[in-house]
Amino acid sequence: MPFTDNRGFKARPRMFASAEGMYYRTPEGRPVLDSTAGLWCVNAGHGRRAIVEAIREQAAELDFAPTFQLGHPKAFELASALADMMPAGLDRIFFTNSGSEAADTSLKMALAYHRANGEGARTRLIGRERGYHGTNMGGTSVGGIGGNRRSFGAQIWGVDHLSATYRAEAAFTRGQPDTNEDMAGELERLVALHGPETIAAVIVEPVACSTGVLVPPRGYLERLREITARHGILLIFDEVITAFGRLGAPTAAHYFGITPDIVTMAKGLTNAAVPMGAVAASRAVHDRIVEGAPRGIEFFHGYTYSGHPLAAAAGLATLGVYAEDGLFARAADLNAYWEAAVHGLKGERHVVDVRNLGLIAGIELTPRADSPGRRAFDVFQRCFDDGLLIRVTGDIIALSPPLIISEAQIDEIVERIGTALRAVD
Ligand SMILES: Cc1ncc(COP(=O)(O)O)c(C=O)c1O
Repeated sequence: MPFTDNRGFKARPRMFASAEGMYYRTPEGRPVLDSTAGLWCVNAGHGRRAIVEAIREQAAELDFAPTFQLGHPKAFELASALADMMPAGLDRIFFTNSGSEAADTSLKMALAYHRANGEGARTRLIGRERGYHGTNMGGTSVGGIGGNRRSFGAQIWGVDHLSATYRAEAAFTRGQPDTNEDMAGELERLVALHGPETIAAVIVEPVACSTGVLVPPRGYLERLREITARHGILLIFDEVITAFGRLGAPTAAHYFGITPDIVTMAKGLTNAAVPMGAVAASRAVHDRIVEGAPRGIEFFHGYTYSGHPLAAAAGLATLGVYAEDGLFARAADLNAYWEAAVHGLKGERHVVDVRNLGLIAGIELTPRADSPGRRAFDVFQRCFDDGLLIRVTGDIIALSPPLIISEAQIDEIVERIGTALRAVD
């Protein structure tokens, strides 16, 4: 099983059999309130009829069509709809099947761009400590999670990392911390060390989510944009979690008012009903790769299921649901309530920090001295038994509910977590 304590799970399984709206149901029919949108992905809530019907109809009409040297209308329709939704200029779309594939695709795009530009020495990739870009070889290498990297030894070469945007002194900050420290200025040091002519791209999550919700300080992303642009380095925002309303805007790029060169996405793209990822590239990146190539295939990359008809249909229906229900604006409207509610956990047993942005929150606990991660896992198990799904990473609880959540359900989440914290040693 993926990222699972297999032996622990087999000894005590936790199963879901169905889902509707804000709730999962276990095989025994017990409801479990979903405070994590599944795995940061079911942004419109579970079992949306419009999405279900679109998948059903598509399966009957066209089950599969190859997209190597061929096409089908819905893949282009979805690409156009995404192009309209992305920050201005990022209107060239490439489909993948997951966030990991989107991350690796974005890295290969950056390398291909510089080669096509006559700067083939730009091969170095810069990620960030505590960054997560999925589990393929490129994403693992630029990612900054020790456990994911150390388990395998071999990584791709020529990678460096910025420091994580976490500072213990910013504990309990609401939203983005203010700081006098120029954290992004560290990139200048890496540029000076390696030489700008060797660096292809910097890849970051605008908000590092999987490692426990590390909110960038004010000015950080702006500064990364400024430094990368000045040195001809592409800036990739990995928006696999932050895209599709999580921050109350279509993407984090919109939310922060910063335009990177490439955006990756997945998860909320189809409301997770069919696996799909995508990469949006700027015209400059696209045109250099495509227009600059000799006649024939321009980008030697792709997946059998790129732009799969079922995923394309699910994606179109999902974007329709977001628009019709005004879910991005809804998330923005809920932000203040969410922030106040989750910060209400300050002072609860074990809690040493609460961080939040948009409809995301991280609640950090003190680890047990002899078994880091175990306390949060016990809270997770206790919540699950009590009818609440939370996510834990190390000793941090990470919350990201569907954007359809009600204020009463927000209160319920906080109350149940508080109860679990008081019960767990
Ligand atoms: C920022 C980011 N990038 C990439 C991924 C990998 O996505 P997937 O699990 O669909 O491969 C994730 C998954 O959580 C993610 O959060």
